[in-house]
Amino acid sequence: MIPISKPSIGEDEIKAVEAVLRSGMLVSGPRVRVFEEGVAKYIGAKHAVATSSGTTALQAAVAALGIKPGDEVITTPFTFIATSNAILSAGARPVFADINPETFNMDPESMEARITHRTKAIIPVHLYGGPCDMDRLTKICERYKLLMLEDCAQSIGTEWKGRRVGGFGSASAFSFYATKNLSTGEGGMVLTNSDEVREKAFLFANQGQKERYEHVAVGFNYRMTDIAAAIGLVQLRKLDGMNRRRIEIARVYDEELKGVEVIDLPQVPKGCRHVFHQYTLRVKKGKRDALAAHLEKKGVGARIYYPKVSYLQPAYARVGFKQGTCPEAERAAGEVLSIPVYPSLTDTEVMHVVRAIKGFKAD
Ligand SMILES: Cc1ncc(COP(=O)(O)O)c(C=O)c1O
Repeated sequence: MIPISKPSIGEDEIKAVEAVLRSGMLVSGPRVRVFEEGVAKYIGAKHAVATSSGTTALQAAVAALGIKPGDEVITTPFTFIATSNAILSAGARPVFADINPETFNMDPESMEARITHRTKAIIPVHLYGGPCDMDRLTKICERYKLLMLEDCAQSIGTEWKGRRVGGFGSASAFSFYATKNLSTGEGGMVLTNSDEVREKAFLFANQGQKERYEHVAVGFNYRMTDIAAAIGLVQLRKLDGMNRRRIEIARVYDEELKGVEVIDLPQVPKGCRHVFHQYTLRVKKGKRDALAAHLEKKGVGARIYYPKVSYLQPAYARVGFKQGTCPEAERAAGEVLSIPVYPSLTDTEVMHVVRAIKGFKAD
């Protein structure tokens, strides 16, 4: 079976972890700080705060931006649930904007239409490793004086017109979960150019502690371990090469699958860099589940990210958005299918996936 994704962990990561274990400084050793500096420099942001996951990075960023009960935050419903959960965890109300059907990302027009006097911020998600329209989203945020928190969980190395995402907003949140383009097992990071946001995010993730047992804010233990940071430092060195391999595989899929009638291939906005955290097909004519079952039989792990929009999840019933709120997001949830893409996927495996898809009889 060719899995949908696979972490790229080698001897260097193993050695780096061993060195931390031998050092005896498992938690707040020196590597977290170096990793923070490395990622901040890579993205082009002034500050970084490492966290235990992408979820806790989002929570720390939402808190640091001062989002509170009574505020509305506009986001996309076509994402992993952690994005909108971060809004709920601050007691604020998520408001859902529809997506652009070509990029699967937040549609700026729909976002603007959802702004009210309560809107404090937006959380666009650069889904699958493809960038949101940062020109238009930034302009709207400036016009209405809204904060922007970029969810970059799937998009380390993604570029919007030559600039890496994660440096556009008031803050950004990254995930280093096992299968992400850069992995530390579990891990995350908040980036920001604001001294104040950095300070607040740091306090939120570190028990609100400025000096030992002096708690100036309510915070929690959302820290990254030195073990995770050691893996992250090796991965950061390998990141551009790993992303290049993902892009190379995507090019082969683009070329080989372009004539297959039942599917639409992923689109990359002009002049931008997609890092293919996922390579996601849109399967038409109601054939998505049949294609997924066919691929399973052929030994290809295909997955649906995401089968249900956030506001239709049972946990969101109280938030009060009905079916039909975001028609394009709902349509995408019924049509998307991601196929394997990860750095260690071989050319032979790529061609096996291609043949399996070409062998699908849609009628
Ligand atoms: C878009 C998005 N946001 C947030 C998260 C949460 O990250 P983590 O799993 O590291 O908590 C994920 C992770 O899958 C994600 O894909």
